[in-house]
Amino acid sequence: MQRAAAVLLPLGLLVLTYACARNLPRGVESNPAALAQQAPERSFEHKIEANAKDMLKDGKQIFRYDTFGSEHFWGGALRLHEAIAGAAHGGVGPGVTARQALQLGLKVDLGALPKILLEAIKGRSVDLDKVDTTLELLRANAVVGVTGVFDKSTKRMTSIGIQCALCHSTVDDSLTKGIGRRLDGWPNRDLDIGKIVASAPTLKPFADLLGVDEGTVRGVLTSWGPGRYDAELNHDGKATRPDGKPATTLLPAAFGLAGVNLHTYSGWGSVTHWNAYVATTQMHGKGTFYDPRMNDPQRFPLAVKSGDWNRRDTPDLITSKLAALHYYQLSIPAPEPPAGSFDAAAAARGKIVFEGKAKCATCHVPPLYSEPGWPMHTAEEIGIDDFQASRAPDRKFYRTTPLKGLFVREKGGFYHDGRFEDLTQVVGHYSRVLKLSLSDAEKADLIQFLKSL
Ligand code: HEC
Ligand code: HEC
Repeated sequence: MQRAAAVLLPLGLLVLTYACARNLPRGVESNPAALAQQAPERSFEHKIEANAKDMLKDGKQIFRYDTFGSEHFWGGALRLHEAIAGAAHGGVGPGVTARQALQLGLKVDLGALPKILLEAIKGRSVDLDKVDTTLELLRANAVVGVTGVFDKSTKRMTSIGIQCALCHSTVDDSLTKGIGRRLDGWPNRDLDIGKIVASAPTLKPFADLLGVDEGTVRGVLTSWGPGRYDAELNHDGKATRPDGKPATTLLPAAFGLAGVNLHTYSGWGSVTHWNAYVATTQMHGKGTFYDPRMNDPQRFPLAVKSGDWNRRDTPDLITSKLAALHYYQLSIPAPEPPAGSFDAAAAARGKIVFEGKAKCATCHVPPLYSEPGWPMHTAEEIGIDDFQASRAPDRKFYRTTPLKGLFVREKGGFYHDGRFEDLTQVVGHYSRVLKLSLSDAEKADLIQFLKSL
């Protein structure tokens, strides 16, 4: 009895003290909204963590698998699925074999392959030269960034839609060339998106918009080549640069973007601005997109004609996904270059050149390798023409490209249009434009440093 009291008494005191403390200090108001957060969750902090987990999971799913209702365009309007299936499977023409699909740069997700198909590919008993194999892969939802819609009873492909992963993911080729584990955020510089689209039985929607015939559209698309796309053509109608080459840009990295203010090579806006832009106006999903800067008949005649500057589709299959999609992209780190792919001692010397004499770090500020703040520069500042910059709403700027994971982007070249074939050309360009007077040894070290990023 006495012992129980000895235990209970301090406990009672404790409760009393707690109750008093909650009402102190006197004369200070408690916000009922804040009080409501005390129960039933453990804490608001807990909610933040749970939210972060959900956003990451949902965002990954959306990035990889969401077609945003784009089937109405790729299947419905262009009938692209018919060209893939071929006449023997209810489509048109010869169809696309699995080998041809891989040659076009399409990638296969090892994780999605059914066991039988996986064993058959390993044992080489699968015929890559058959259209059936392509259809089998599509049925398994194993083609990265492309989803076929199949009729359950006829087993035929009836439509097709695309995902962000089509252009912004590749695979590690761990099974064989073109088949492996997904590498989200890595630009697919093997993908010939122009050639794929050009294979559609009809290109009338593009021809009507651009006011040219389908043959002209096909010619433009097949001129693009792998790893390239033109995300502004259907708004400004500019198919070529002043020098006559295609007005495409390279597919950029979608990794290492957290902390960077503006996106795309010419800084159209934030990641989420661009996501809404691409999902509605390029992937032809159904959503909402508003950018009054494009309501300009001189600069964006086709965006005004199609109403793309102010899209309001019903149902809206995109807006509710933008938050998680944004979150996922910001979570993708830049990959690290494999050991042995650069000379570490030279890279250490090159870092000093980068941050000092070569002035690179004035714009490529480590560790973001872009400027905190407003990372935009005129064409003159970096010594190139302003064609691509002038296609963006803000007219005349290029964004300082974050340089981490540069080794992933060697294929296709550097700068927005790949005008520099390799890092030697990039460094040569800066030496001239910025009048750097770097020795050959300093240039070589600088290149090793860039390879180490
Ligand atoms: C058909 C290929 C293609 C598809 C599909 C595509 N993109 Fe892109 N993406 C591009 C190209 C090309 C650019 C560069 C455009 C420019 O600079 O003018 C780009 C730019 C970006 C950027 C800016 C990168 C940077 O360096 O700032 C992000 C982020 C991005 N895309 C994410 C997405 C997401 C998310 C989706 C799906 C909603 C998507 N993309 C769908 C081709 C594509
Ligand atoms: C005045 C600011 C500025 C300075 C100084 C600068 N850069 Fe850049 N850098 C940029 C901009 C802007 C781009 C984007 C150009 C484009 O895409 O057309 C870029 C692009 C690059 C790219 C291409 C990345 C890719 O993925 O295509 C590399 C590599 C690069 N810079 C390295 C360097 C090096 C090395 C130095 C120093 C010798 C340097 N930069 C100095 C602003 C700068």
